Amino acid sequence: MQIILASNNADKLREVGEILAPLGIEVISQAQAGCRFEAVEDGATFAENARIKARAAVEATGRPCVADDSGLEVNAMDGGPGIYSSRFCGDRGYRETCREIMRIVDADPGGDRGARFRCAVACCFPGGDKIDCEGVVEGSIGHVYEGEHGFGYDPIFVPEGFERSMACLTDEEKNKISHRGRAFRSFAEKLSAYMENKGGETIC
Ligand code: IMP
Repeated sequence: MQIILASNNADKLREVGEILAPLGIEVISQAQAGCRFEAVEDGATFAENARIKARAAVEATGRPCVADDSGLEVNAMDGGPGIYSSRFCGDRGYRETCREIMRIVDADPGGDRGARFRCAVACCFPGGDKIDCEGVVEGSIGHVYEGEHGFGYDPIFVPEGFERSMACLTDEEKNKISHRGRAFRSFAEKLSAYMENKGGETIC
């Protein structure tokens, strides 16, 4: 089965492809499906933004599309940057943005270093059906910037039960515990239940 991911982010496409491949689902980008625009993410939650992207891609392609919206929530930033994770980085790059988050958290020695990555997944079908899922990985902001794998805020996020940052994990290790891994595995389960209900009809 093939499904369109409403994203042109190569890191995300790789991760989602790796997560869904063992489940027999091939992921292609919206660009590969002939849709080159980026939807405006003006929702108030991760779930709303995921829905906006998926729905826009369905309208453009006429095929079922799945989208995710994800980000880092830091307790010491009242849950920020949250849905603004990408915009908080802007043009200055993730190395500098990660250092800024560490400075904010370090400003309160002995304070709350808790954080989590959250990922909302929305799949929309041309007929109006939809599937929504969420995945979360709890952790904390590390004391050092470390690791070469992953992307974005991975070098400063230490997942619960680990001593080093997410960027020190291989893709396979990250996918097992990540917000995106959890959300998309839950999506795959709901998708197969949905397809069984539809009597095996080809929907993707
Ligand atoms: P979006 O889901 O494409 O809107 O991206 C949200 C932003 O959240 C990304 O640009 C990264 O800044 C951050 N982010 C989301 N997932 C991850 C992850 O797995 N590792 C590190 N940063 C992430």
